[in-house]
Amino acid sequence: MHNVIPVTDDLLYLGGNDRRIALFESAYPVPRGVSYNSYLLLDEKTVLFDTVDAAVSETFFENLAFALKGRQLDYLVVHHMEPDHSASFQGVLSRHPETIVIANKKTAGMLKNYFGFEGKMQLVAEGETINFGKHSLSFVFAPMVHWPEVMMSYLLPEQVLFSADAFGTFGALGGSIFADKVHFERDFLDDARRYYCGIVGKYGVQVQSVLKKAANLPIKMICPLHGPVWREEKGIAWFLQKYDTWSKCVPEERGAAIFYASVYGHTQNAAEILGAELAKQDVPVKLYDVSVTHASELLAEAFRYSHLVFVSTTYNNGVFVSMENFLHDLKAHFFGKRAYAVVENGSWSPQAGQLMETEISSWKEMRQVGEKVTILSSVNEETRTKLETLAGELADDYKNS
Ligand code: FEO
Repeated sequence: MHNVIPVTDDLLYLGGNDRRIALFESAYPVPRGVSYNSYLLLDEKTVLFDTVDAAVSETFFENLAFALKGRQLDYLVVHHMEPDHSASFQGVLSRHPETIVIANKKTAGMLKNYFGFEGKMQLVAEGETINFGKHSLSFVFAPMVHWPEVMMSYLLPEQVLFSADAFGTFGALGGSIFADKVHFERDFLDDARRYYCGIVGKYGVQVQSVLKKAANLPIKMICPLHGPVWREEKGIAWFLQKYDTWSKCVPEERGAAIFYASVYGHTQNAAEILGAELAKQDVPVKLYDVSVTHASELLAEAFRYSHLVFVSTTYNNGVFVSMENFLHDLKAHFFGKRAYAVVENGSWSPQAGQLMETEISSWKEMRQVGEKVTILSSVNEETRTKLETLAGELADDYKNS
């Protein structure tokens, strides 16, 4: 049965939620589910903004039929071709062969490759405007946020930005679709950060470029392809600020995150001692076992905090595999701009510390605090003192930098 939700007087929400999905994009756990958003403008012309993932297509088609109330569908705007938004493209066109697809040149190529589609299409250029009656829509290209064909669009007179993947979040919607009607900071922010870092975190430069374009537009509402709709000026400014912080790769919060890889618990013990010493000196601190915590959460927490400590045992003459994977993931996301410290363990030939230092120091604007601490098998009084010294140096840096 249909479940169409009004966004404005002329704009309707047609999307749906998947709470059964385990891994979004086969990569990201989504224990709170995910929404696939689609919107319909009813003007002299009818305009559909994107489709939805196959998981929610049945409700979506019921919504579309209900919302159109027998009218033809004049246009389908394709902001982003990834299948979580384009999977229902052919289903829309088979029901509405009259529809003209509005897309850019790159999208046209993908429509051909995915669906063999070469039907009715209106190609748009950056800045171009189309009138649908009392509404007009102009196009803002956003390449690599998060695919090369991605574009946003801006609807007047309501000043609505259709932002594609940007400003989206993991987490299904329930009840209200509006960010100002949910407790976003409590219920969505961690998922939003994890979504940003995983989906577009690698493309901070491109996100900055889009934010500069958006700064020239008065925006009263943001309609993303995932997660709540933003319609309150204060909330929009707050979320834009989060995107600015994340895309500049600067810390969102001051505090220490200790990431450790431990086989039998001795390396973990070093991490716990360091964490306790930091807490004694009033440094907010969190510990993560990189072998247990999902990579997407590790990445998001690294983006979040100002001071990072990498603690790893040596394994096969190298860095323990889960820590090695984590460092690889950070590098792949062009991560940097943090203070960091290193602790290693090794029973006969500690190697992990040197290898981690070499890797981390190659990232942009990383600044090492204190000297690497080497544990031989397990922490003793001497190495405990070294951990206390490192905690003191990190605490001083936290307070003074
Ligand atoms: Fe939600 Fe890049 O797709």
